[in-house]
Amino acid sequence: MRVASRRHALGDGDFYQIRVAEPLDAGRLLDLHFDLCRTDPATDMPELDEFPLSADIVARDAKALERTANGMLLAAIHDRDAIGSAVLRGGRFRRTRHVTELSMRVRKDWRRRGVGRALLDTALEAARASDVVEIVSLTVFLSNAPALELYRSAGFQEEGRRRGHLRLGDRDDDLVLMSQRV
Ligand SMILES: CC(C)(COP(=O)(O)OP(=O)(O)OC[C@H]1O[C@@H](n2cnc3c(N)ncnc32)[C@H](O)[C@@H]1OP(=O)(O)O)[C@@H](O)C(=O)NCCC(=O)NCCS
Repeated sequence: MRVASRRHALGDGDFYQIRVAEPLDAGRLLDLHFDLCRTDPATDMPELDEFPLSADIVARDAKALERTANGMLLAAIHDRDAIGSAVLRGGRFRRTRHVTELSMRVRKDWRRRGVGRALLDTALEAARASDVVEIVSLTVFLSNAPALELYRSAGFQEEGRRRGHLRLGDRDDDLVLMSQRV
């Protein structure tokens, strides 16, 4: 899937860019991943040591996603840093290729400045423009109020909950399943 690269103004002449990630972005996307594992470990599924990533793996993933008709990796770039990313991972089979699964993140020190909404709008724009994608779906932790708010406000509807499917240290949480037709 493709989408045009776009600049987003931050005021005082500064800006960030949202564009399809290239294999060359792998290093900065990896830095974003490590930064979030350190500053916000409770919003992602695998813990750092359970899902080891390298720049090579990220580069290969970006390249593979670029070739699919129902997936893409988006990066929000400020100066030389990745400040956010969004992934659409489309179904691999004829029976599932009309569905793409969204996940996204914004660096903690960049939140509440519109980057998350801009990434989500861009991902939805690409999904709507696709000839293949009909449904964007996602899962989010019930305790993740910011993400739930963002998704609800962008038109995602709750489809159900997988109760107690998450163990976050000494407490359990529900997985909320959401989707929207595009
Ligand atoms: C969810 C997340 C992507 C939002 O990114 P962000 O850049 O802070 O979002 P924005 O500034 O664009 O805010 C967009 C909307 O999200 C909601 N929102 C964001 N932060 C919120 C908060 N702390 N409390 C309540 N709502 C919040 C609001 O609806 C907001 O719209 P508004 O500014 O008009 O009120 C970010 O918090 C994040 O990366 N969280 C960790 C990873 C994650 O949870 N990913 C999603 C699960 S797959």
